[in-house]
Amino acid sequence: NNQLLILGIETSCDETSAAVVRGGTECLSNVISSQMDVHKKFGGVVPEVASRRHVERITLIIQKALEEAKVKMEEIDAIAVTQGPGLVGALLIGVTAAKALAYATGKPLVPVHHIAGHIYANHLVEPLTFPLVALVVSGGHTELIHMDRHNHFRRLGKTRDDAVGEAFDKVARLMKLPYPGGPQIDRLAAQGEPTYDLPRAWLEPGSFDFSFSGLKSAVMNLMHNASQRGEEIRYVDLAASFQEAALDVLVEKSIRAVKETGVDQLVLAGGVSANSALRIRLLERCKEEGIRLAIPPLELCTDNAAMIAVAGTYQFLDGELADLELNADANLPL
Ligand code: KG4
Ligand code: ZN
Repeated sequence: NNQLLILGIETSCDETSAAVVRGGTECLSNVISSQMDVHKKFGGVVPEVASRRHVERITLIIQKALEEAKVKMEEIDAIAVTQGPGLVGALLIGVTAAKALAYATGKPLVPVHHIAGHIYANHLVEPLTFPLVALVVSGGHTELIHMDRHNHFRRLGKTRDDAVGEAFDKVARLMKLPYPGGPQIDRLAAQGEPTYDLPRAWLEPGSFDFSFSGLKSAVMNLMHNASQRGEEIRYVDLAASFQEAALDVLVEKSIRAVKETGVDQLVLAGGVSANSALRIRLLERCKEEGIRLAIPPLELCTDNAAMIAVAGTYQFLDGELADLELNADANLPL
C-alpha cells in the first residue's frame, strides 16, 4: 500500500492540476496551472472561459506531472479525478481526460469528491489520525465534517447560504478590491481594528450550520448608510470587523464540534485556510482547549491535484471505483 502510485487530476474551478502521489502520503509532483490572470479582469471566475482554458492545458499538465515525478504512465496504479462539486463545464474536462486515460491504459478510475481532497491535503504533511473533525472553508463550501476512519465522511453542518470564501470575495468587491478578495480582506484587516458592530449568525442552539449572507448584507447596509450621510468608512476597520464576525462563528463552532463528538483532532481545509487570522485564532483556541490541530501549508490550501490523489488512494483501497460511464456532478454530495 505504501508504494501505490496514484495520478490525480483536478479541474473543478480555475486551476488545472495534475499530480502523482505515492502511498497516499508522498507527493512526487503537483503541477498547478492557475487561470487567475485570465479571470481577474472579469472580477471572478467565468465558467466557460475556465473550461476552455482547462481543455488547452490538461494534457500537458498531466504529462508534466508524470515527468516531474519520474513515473511512467504504465507504473501508475489508478487515476483519481475530481468528479464534483464545482463548475460542471470545468469538471467535465478533467473527468473526460481521466476516462480517456483509463480507457487507453486499462487503469482503474477513482471518482473523488473535491472536499475529501481538501481534507486529505493535510495528510501530505502529517498522517491524519481518527476520529477527527474537519472545518472545510472555501469559495464554494463551509462545512464541518466528522471522520471516524479513512474515506468515511459524515457532515455535521454546512452553510445555509453563502460560503465563507464567497462572503470574503463579495465584501472585497463592495470595497472595490481586486479578485480574489479573500487575501485582500486578510491584508486590510491586519492593519485595522474591529470597531464596527456586525452580526454573528449562531443560528439555533446546538446547530453546526453556518450563514454568511446576513453578515455580507450588514456590511453592504453599513457602507450604503455611511455614503448617504456623507460619512467616510475606514476600510481597514471594516475589513477587520467583517473578518472577526466571520471567524468568531467558524472557530467557536469548530471547537464545539470537536468537544461534542469527542474527537482527537481538528483539521482545517480549503482555500480560506490561507487566512492568517483564522490560522492564528484556531492555533490559540486549540492550544487553550488541548486540541490537536492540523493546518495545511499555504501551497496546499488552494485547489491542487495532489490532494485529489491522496483522497483517491484511500478510496481506491476501499474499492470505490467508477466505470467509463462516469459523469461530472456539480452538486456531488460527500
Ligand atoms: O478552495 P479554493 O481555492 O477554491 C474553492 O474550492 O472554492 O478557495 C478559494 C477561496 C476564495 O473565496 C478566496 O477568496 C479564499 O478562498 N481565500 C481567502 C484567503 N485566501 C484565499 N479568504 C480569506 N483569506 C485569505 N487569505
Ligand atoms: Zn477548493
